[in-house]
Amino acid sequence: MSEPAGAMSLQFKKLIVALFAVAFIAAVVMVGLMEKERHKPEKAAVAYADAASRKCIDCHEAKHIAVDWNRQWAQSRHAAKGIGCIACHEAQPTDPDKWEHEGFILTHVPSPSDCAKCHEQITKEFTESHHASAAQFIGSLDNILGEVAEGGPAANLGCRQCHGSEVKLDGNGIPVAGTWPNTGIGRMNPDGSHGTCTACHTRHMFSKQQAREPRTCGRCHMGPDHPQIEIFEESKHGIMFTAWREKMKLDADEWIVGKTYTHAPVCATCHMGATPTQEMTHDVGARIAWTLRPLFSKRQDKWETKRAAMAAVCQECHAKTWVANYFKMYDNAVDLWNSKFAKPASDIMDALKASGKITPTPFDDNIEWTFYELWHHEGRRARMGASMMGPDFTQWHGFYEVAKHFYTKFLKEANELQPGVIDPVLQMPEHAWKKGMTPEQIKAMLDFYQQRYGQKVQ
Ligand code: HEC
Ligand code: HEC
Ligand code: HEC
Ligand code: HEC
Ligand code: HEC
Ligand code: HEC
Ligand code: HEC
Ligand code: HEC
Repeated sequence: MSEPAGAMSLQFKKLIVALFAVAFIAAVVMVGLMEKERHKPEKAAVAYADAASRKCIDCHEAKHIAVDWNRQWAQSRHAAKGIGCIACHEAQPTDPDKWEHEGFILTHVPSPSDCAKCHEQITKEFTESHHASAAQFIGSLDNILGEVAEGGPAANLGCRQCHGSEVKLDGNGIPVAGTWPNTGIGRMNPDGSHGTCTACHTRHMFSKQQAREPRTCGRCHMGPDHPQIEIFEESKHGIMFTAWREKMKLDADEWIVGKTYTHAPVCATCHMGATPTQEMTHDVGARIAWTLRPLFSKRQDKWETKRAAMAAVCQECHAKTWVANYFKMYDNAVDLWNSKFAKPASDIMDALKASGKITPTPFDDNIEWTFYELWHHEGRRARMGASMMGPDFTQWHGFYEVAKHFYTKFLKEANELQPGVIDPVLQMPEHAWKKGMTPEQIKAMLDFYQQRYGQKVQ
């Protein structure tokens, strides 16, 4: 007599349940193993390296020398591609920066020339940019301030950490204190090359994701005389970046605004990044039409092409009129600075110098400090705020400070040194308001405060 159909199906069900149970346990075990693997320290660095590099790693691990570099390197794209220590640190016996170390001929200071072996085009763009010449500031007022008025040790850990030092080696290829450690953007290297790629691509990850972070640029582009990171953070762009950063795909290989990411631009988007019609560039000046650094802003060579390149970035998100009108307003703000404040102030300084009221030595007269802050700090902030949508820097940290110090300090100090020297400036229509406002203008102002607060203005 055969089993009833129901009983057979019970057997079958038991089998299915058992099979599921086995599969479940197997899955749990497998996930466990995979998790264990994942939580192991990064795959042993030695697994990737060439024979020479393996020696560096093994010995440094054994003697516990700078081991973090081995581990960062092991997580880098270079390690994944089999590019070991020796690829960057190797030198030739005739190289000016050669350093003999444990039977190897190395360089202690890998430079852009070492990267150029594999990244030729990028190194060329970088080397031709203003970044690469940033350490050549001897003769500038800032340098006299840093080196002379302040002093050498201050400049080593101040100016040169951003701009770059001139690295000097002892007779054995070891860099000497005072010139190194340094990863300033325009560092002058013993092999004759300029700059440091590590200024943005921190070793030994050498990552592009990290370089795309606005804070990477903000390490140098900050503070009272060039507050680009602060301006960016207050702008709508910075706000959008903070809100949507995980959509920005900073870790993507292909990173093209308007194509592979949207939402907001970061520094690297506008100044370096690819668009559907433009390649990525390591020349950060390639899209800059004005220079905002000097006393007078000047148009750069081929400024129309550079402006068009920048506008093309904007137009991946904005429409044409928005962008064109914004640039018009920006250009007007730069013209305002140049004509209303920079030119008159510099004419007055020239007159004071010509009449011997101030000496040719910088910073030995009080008015020279006033004048320096007027253009180098306040006037730059005003222009930079205007260039990158930072209204508070354009206004309160910018033109407000310019106007306040121009009228209440600079003109006053100049007139004390040489009475009458400011008269031509006060004749200019832009400054005519100083002679007194019209009764209508004064009434409008009083009425405003009466209506809004029921009070008189002080
Ligand atoms: C046999 C052991 C050994 C090998 C192999 C070795 N190193 Fe070193 N390395 C050391 C020791 C020990 C130090 C620290 C003392 C010193 O500066 O000599 C050091 C320090 C360094 C320093 C820093 C020097 C300083 O002045 O602070 C660098 C850079 C370096 N090694 C790079 C390398 C590279 C690249 C390789 C492979 C091409 C390598 N090393 C191979 C033992 C080794
Ligand atoms: C992609 C190029 C590259 C590779 C690969 C590389 N390095 Fe470096 N290394 C550099 C650069 C650039 C510096 C910084 C030099 C400077 O700015 O003075 C440096 C500096 C160093 C220093 C001294 C700096 C310090 O902080 O003490 C050590 C030690 C070092 N590297 C070891 C290694 C070891 C070990 C490996 C292999 C695991 C390795 N490097 C792989 C480019 C590289
Ligand atoms: C021996 C050749 C070689 C040398 C030398 C070399 N690189 Fe590379 N680098 C590569 C290769 C290959 C890649 C991977 C490219 C890819 O994945 O498409 C790479 C990738 C990179 C990346 C992109 C990493 C990422 O996040 O995707 C950066 C940044 C970089 N290198 C910087 C440097 C710097 C800086 C130096 C010099 C200090 C240097 N490289 C030296 C070959 C080299
Ligand atoms: C925090 C980093 C930092 C420090 C410190 C610093 N600078 Fe600068 N400096 C910059 C940046 C960034 C610029 C470019 C600003 C811009 O383009 O808006 C600049 C611009 C300049 C310029 C104008 C260059 C030109 O082409 O017109 C000179 C000159 C200069 N700095 C010299 C100095 C000196 C000298 C010191 C020390 C007294 C110093 N800097 C300190 C970051 C720094
Ligand atoms: C001012 C900061 C800065 C400096 C200095 C710098 N880079 Fe970059 N680099 C970046 C940024 C940002 C990116 C990512 C740009 C993008 O994807 O639009 C990048 C990307 C790269 C890449 C990846 C390219 C690709 O096609 O994916 C390489 C390789 C690279 N840089 C090498 C170098 C080398 C070599 C140097 C020195 C000669 C250098 N960088 C100096 C900021 C910098
Ligand atoms: C280590 C310091 C440092 C870092 C990091 C740095 N810069 Fe600069 N940058 C400078 C200095 C210094 C100058 C002025 C160079 C000069 O004129 O001598 C400058 C100039 C510039 C200029 C003006 C170029 C021109 O041709 O007028 C732009 C734009 C710029 N940087 C953008 C960036 C961006 C974007 C980043 C990040 C991806 C960045 N910088 C990272 C120091 C730095
Ligand atoms: C929305 C695009 C955009 C973003 C984001 C952006 N910039 Fe700019 N930047 C500009 C424009 C436009 C100018 C003015 C160009 C001109 O004068 O033609 C400018 C000017 C500059 C200058 C002035 C160069 C000089 O001559 O002094 C520097 C330096 C600079 N930017 C650095 C940065 C840094 C650093 C960041 C991020 C913290 C950043 N920018 C973010 C668009 C941008
Ligand atoms: C990746 C997209 C993107 C790029 C590229 C871009 N922007 Fe924007 N921009 C935005 C977003 C998003 C806003 C915020 C829109 C809103 O307020 O609704 C914005 C806002 C603005 C504002 C308004 C600021 C305010 O305070 O209201 C101005 C002006 C502006 N952008 C100009 C520019 C210029 C000029 C460029 C090129 C130099 C540029 N943008 C590049 C996305 C972008």
